[in-house]
Amino acid sequence: MSKFPVTMKLDDMRSLVSHFPDMLRSIDLDHNIIDECKGYHERGYGGLCFLGMGGSSIVGLYVSELLRRDSLLPISIIKDYTLPRFVTKDWIVIAVSYSGNTAETLSALKEADERGSKIITITSGGQIQETYSHYPQLLIRKGLQPRAAFPLLLSGILPITETIIGAEYTKMDKLAESLVAASKKWGEWIHRPDSLACKFLKRIPLFIGAEYMKPVAYRAKTQVNENAKTIAFGSEIPEAAHNEIEGFQENQQAAFIPVFLKHGDESKQIQQKQDVMQSLYEEIGMNPVSLRALGKSPIEKMLTLTHYLDMVSVELAEMRGVDALAVNRITELKKRLAKRG
Ligand code: PA5
Repeated sequence: MSKFPVTMKLDDMRSLVSHFPDMLRSIDLDHNIIDECKGYHERGYGGLCFLGMGGSSIVGLYVSELLRRDSLLPISIIKDYTLPRFVTKDWIVIAVSYSGNTAETLSALKEADERGSKIITITSGGQIQETYSHYPQLLIRKGLQPRAAFPLLLSGILPITETIIGAEYTKMDKLAESLVAASKKWGEWIHRPDSLACKFLKRIPLFIGAEYMKPVAYRAKTQVNENAKTIAFGSEIPEAAHNEIEGFQENQQAAFIPVFLKHGDESKQIQQKQDVMQSLYEEIGMNPVSLRALGKSPIEKMLTLTHYLDMVSVELAEMRGVDALAVNRITELKKRLAKRG
């Protein structure tokens, strides 16, 4: 369970996003789980797979992007009902579902259980807590929206995965301090969140990530969708250079604003692609924005930009006069599907 920042208001997305850094250091990690993971590391395993949907899937994307350079074994992300055949009993399956009741995650988890895979679950309750408590299980605090729980989920899953693959631990306290310092300087190293949000009032943001900024672009798209209740897209370089750039024709470009997310240490090929794409977009009148993360390590850079873009989505929600917390359509869809059985 976690020690929560007392000033954080669960019914206020601005407060939740403001406490992003505090949430990073509020998990009490269960030593039994860590010991179990040390055992997996020592005895060996076939691969590692994350299950999860929506807000609960993002953490797997960040962790796999961060650790794939250190991992000698495959790390796979499954956002679906079924598992690929290669996930066998030798694999470790980490199921993440904030509610513990997500149909796709439950279905894939059942398959993993039937195959005899090594299961770890992270949830705040629901069917996952009930059915899978005999496996290592990290219980997190109830009452948040899954997307707002991202820093909590990350601070639990990152050390678990680092233990499994035998990587050095990330120092969460230091990371949290850097995020607080970076957020105090929004408006200096990066635009103020409200001034960027203003640009998204009239144009659809297209967040473009490269290398370890790819999950950050995806998270930004989903935060704008769910918090600000408006359309946004995420894409990635180099792939976007092979298709998406042809998509803006016959004045469609006026509807979009490309937002390049950069970490500053891109390879030469990526830098060149970013530069050329940016100029091509400028030439057709698109006014792209380029955001450069602050920080030293990849995780610090990913999170300074994530925290900032989360706040941009809250500003945008307020400007649009919508409730950043509500997800009425997602809830309605789940209700209707549950009735169908
Ligand atoms: O943000 C949301 O509410 C959704 O994207 C959910 O995360 C998604 O539907 C999956 O639910 P859960 O996170 O409870 O597994």
